[in-house]
Amino acid sequence: MKILIVYSTSEGQTAKIADVVSGWLRERGHHVATVDSTLTDENTEAYGFDAFILAGSVHFAKYQESLVKFAKRQAAILQRHPSAFLSVCGAASSQNEASQAEARSYIGTFISRTGWIPTVFLSVAGAVKYTKYNWLIKPVMKSINQKKGGPTDTTRDHELTDWVALKRFIDDFCDRLVEVPQRVSA
Ligand SMILES: Cc1cc2nc3c(=O)[nH]c(=O)nc-3n(C[C@H](O)[C@H](O)[C@H](O)COP(=O)(O)O)c2cc1C
Repeated sequence: MKILIVYSTSEGQTAKIADVVSGWLRERGHHVATVDSTLTDENTEAYGFDAFILAGSVHFAKYQESLVKFAKRQAAILQRHPSAFLSVCGAASSQNEASQAEARSYIGTFISRTGWIPTVFLSVAGAVKYTKYNWLIKPVMKSINQKKGGPTDTTRDHELTDWVALKRFIDDFCDRLVEVPQRVSA
């Protein structure tokens, strides 16, 4: 099947996730195109694909505007095909109910802003990339992580993505793609 992955990223973790996911899909024999949402515009055609995966990261409770715009413009076509949304955020890294609810609320807001209801969706823990933050963001992120029990060593980056859970989700999504109605022979 032909699968289009459209992702948006600010510090690179969602780009890495899109890349890893496209590798898994190829291993299963799918043809995959992976596109950065900032390279899409009102002239972008999403026709010719059998399934879609969108992935975006959350900053200050919002996804990158280019991904929101892509999903909004292509909502009708996305809706007619199997589709998945990967929401990459810090809140997904914590198991406590408040954080999980926060992670879910980002997806709810995305759906209501874009009008696209993905077939399946997942909150994915991203990364804390201290080496990429500027002098202003670094102490803010450290303080948030101190409060939430996240990583506080600012001398390096910390990947929080649960690759096993993500692989399971993508495998389940792929299994749905190959499900074909059983023909009853006479
Ligand atoms: C400035 C900044 C703001 C963030 N705001 C949120 C937020 O509101 N909620 C959340 O769950 N995670 C938040 N995060 C965590 C990011 O979603 C996480 O680091 C993610 O891995 C970023 O993905 P990316 O590298 O693809 O941009 C924030 C991170 C940064 C650096």
